[in-house]
Amino acid sequence: MPVNHLIDLNDWSRQNWEKIIRLALEIERNPRQFYGRMEGKILAALFYEPSTRTQNSFKSAMMRLGGQCLGFSNPQNSSVAKGETLADTIRIMNGYADIIAIRHPMEGAAKAAAAYSSCPVINAGDGGHLHPTQTLTDLVTLTRETGRLDNLTVGICGDLKYGRTVHSLIKALTQFPNNRFILISTKELAIPAYIRVLLNAAGCQYQEVSSLTEVIGDLDVLYMTRIQQERFQSEEEYQRQKHIYILDTEKMSLARPTMKVLHPLPRVDEITPEVDDDPRAVYFKQAHYGVYTRMALIITLLEEDGFVSAPFRGTPHSDEPCSNPNCITHSESYLKKSYLETSNMLMCEYCEHKKLI
Ligand code: CP
Repeated sequence: MPVNHLIDLNDWSRQNWEKIIRLALEIERNPRQFYGRMEGKILAALFYEPSTRTQNSFKSAMMRLGGQCLGFSNPQNSSVAKGETLADTIRIMNGYADIIAIRHPMEGAAKAAAAYSSCPVINAGDGGHLHPTQTLTDLVTLTRETGRLDNLTVGICGDLKYGRTVHSLIKALTQFPNNRFILISTKELAIPAYIRVLLNAAGCQYQEVSSLTEVIGDLDVLYMTRIQQERFQSEEEYQRQKHIYILDTEKMSLARPTMKVLHPLPRVDEITPEVDDDPRAVYFKQAHYGVYTRMALIITLLEEDGFVSAPFRGTPHSDEPCSNPNCITHSESYLKKSYLETSNMLMCEYCEHKKLI
């Protein structure tokens, strides 16, 4: 019997996302109706990287459903510090919990964890790669706040290179008709090549620009992001990129009255505190919708069938190292490398990085 997992939202049909969005909104309307639904179930929250929202909204979701939680928020306080592999940690947790939410600094870590798990694994963020539960939260927020997931002009501003929430959100919104993207960043922090390929393949209109002021008036949605200091190779590089994009009341005065501002949070300085009082700023509501979204996700993964992740399909080139230094196959060297071959390229099935052959 295949096990349900959420590794990449694009492993599932759009109908499956819509089912979870509908359930999240139903829970928001009447949360008490769902209290006790997960009584006797345990969530393992394995956080190899810091988190406030994702970790605690998962725990809050499981507790509101009547279940319980265990895990770690700092791997240094677990046997990871003694050298335990990811595979062994997952095998052990399978005996202690019914569902696992994992955040890890290496890209492809959740897919690797799922390969060793007999219970559902949820990707709570894998390095700079994906953050699908944030994206589900973003889709719930957009549905709730704009009434639709199509025909949107979406501006995404800031760190489009390392921002995993950006990658997951673009991947998701390309699946709905007539969405248009305005990607606002410096050249150094532009979207990775694989996202450009995906946008082109989906036939989506997109522009890459450097000025927020020039485009803010065209947007239905502005998705602000933090410059991800922890993912830069050098401090100098980060210093050159920080403080470039700041949303303030002056820029908000150029935006449409109906525009909504989202941010996955945490913020550093990219939105000034004065903007918080603008009714178009919905990022704190967005974080609250995250609890309903994760309640819906836990119920679905533990009660429904057909929410599986894409299987490994690549076989050849198993000795070829992945070209991405942040790929999980480097830190967990026992993992079977797996690539999909596309014309003259190999794409790693864990982190989706491509290399020429
Ligand atoms: N949005 C988000 O992932 O926040 P945390 O890093 O606090 O979990």
